[in-house]
Amino acid sequence: MINHDIIKSQLSHTLQSTDFPGLGKEYKGKVRDNYSKDGRRIIIVTDKLSAFDKNITTIPFKGQVLNQLAKFWFENTSDIIGNHVIEYPDPNVVVAKECTPLPVEMIVRGYITGVTSTSAWTHYQKGVRNFCGNILPEGLKRDQKFEKPIVTPSTKAAHGDHDESVSGQELIERQLLTADEFNHLSNISLALYQRGVEITAKQGIILVDTKYEFGKTSSGEIVLIDEIHTPDSSRFWFADEYAERFHKEEPQKKIDKEYLREWLAQNNFTGEGEVPEIPDDIKIETARRYIEAYELITGQNFNAESGNILERITKNLNKYL
Ligand SMILES: Nc1ncnc2c1ncn2[C@@H]1O[C@H](COP(=O)(O)OP(=O)(O)OP(=O)(O)O)[C@@H](O)[C@H]1O
Ligand SMILES: [Mg+2]
Repeated sequence: MINHDIIKSQLSHTLQSTDFPGLGKEYKGKVRDNYSKDGRRIIIVTDKLSAFDKNITTIPFKGQVLNQLAKFWFENTSDIIGNHVIEYPDPNVVVAKECTPLPVEMIVRGYITGVTSTSAWTHYQKGVRNFCGNILPEGLKRDQKFEKPIVTPSTKAAHGDHDESVSGQELIERQLLTADEFNHLSNISLALYQRGVEITAKQGIILVDTKYEFGKTSSGEIVLIDEIHTPDSSRFWFADEYAERFHKEEPQKKIDKEYLREWLAQNNFTGEGEVPEIPDDIKIETARRYIEAYELITGQNFNAESGNILERITKNLNKYL
């Protein structure tokens, strides 16, 4: 596990934002800077952390962790489906094929859980027994494992609108996907989830649920895009405590990205007003947890690349500029 002083010395070198007009048309998400040109998309993962829909701060090595976690999973699933990756020229950067995203997120759930309005458990508690075309039995308890993992698609709403959970049937009726495409994506999503479950199980981790995005390449091939099995797109629990906590009806122990969010809430920030000053120790602990998540999920050591990230990226992207 990484040394505290390495994280501390990186506090002044985190990656906040980039500006590379030469890389192409720019699109900035909450944490990733995307540049598109000539059929490729360069995605730079910054160290920004957002919570309560606000940009809060930067966390040392967070961008590297998220980028390299996705890299680990793209590499470990490429026999199931091709992906958008062309190369990783820098620890924080992926160069990808520019694809036409399919208008759907494929969510796979192995367990019934969650507290938000879109969660399976929330729907179930309200009496829903047909969830996105999946018939759920009576008597399920919170955090219970489904007999078989289920696929619950969600439409990718235009900016401002909310994503909507739908059944495959509805996707087909609305002509968002053909029946063949939906069946193909369902099978692939279940196979990807199964692979994720097998690999994390060796680490004592449960991949609870996750979402996948797909796109079409210029030659018409459907590939996996965006990110895969990162803490931003997935939920992870600790396997050794699962059964006991489930029977005692206690919350599961999770690999969480909520540490800073919880600190903010304790300091009376839930999205309104000014973001409180975040002490270095809190940032360092947040970084340590991201790195720990990387090591727990992959079973590999994290090689922190310290120093001035923007200078390094500029050098590593030289051939694209
Ligand atoms: N290879 C690709 N080709 C085309 N689009 C892609 C590719 N990979 C990812 N995308 C899409 O690019 C968009 C940008 O993603 P990004 O995560 O940076 O921002 P966002 O999803 O708009 O916001 P958020 O910060 O909430 O995730 C997403 O809609 C994603 O589906
Ligand atoms: Mg996104």
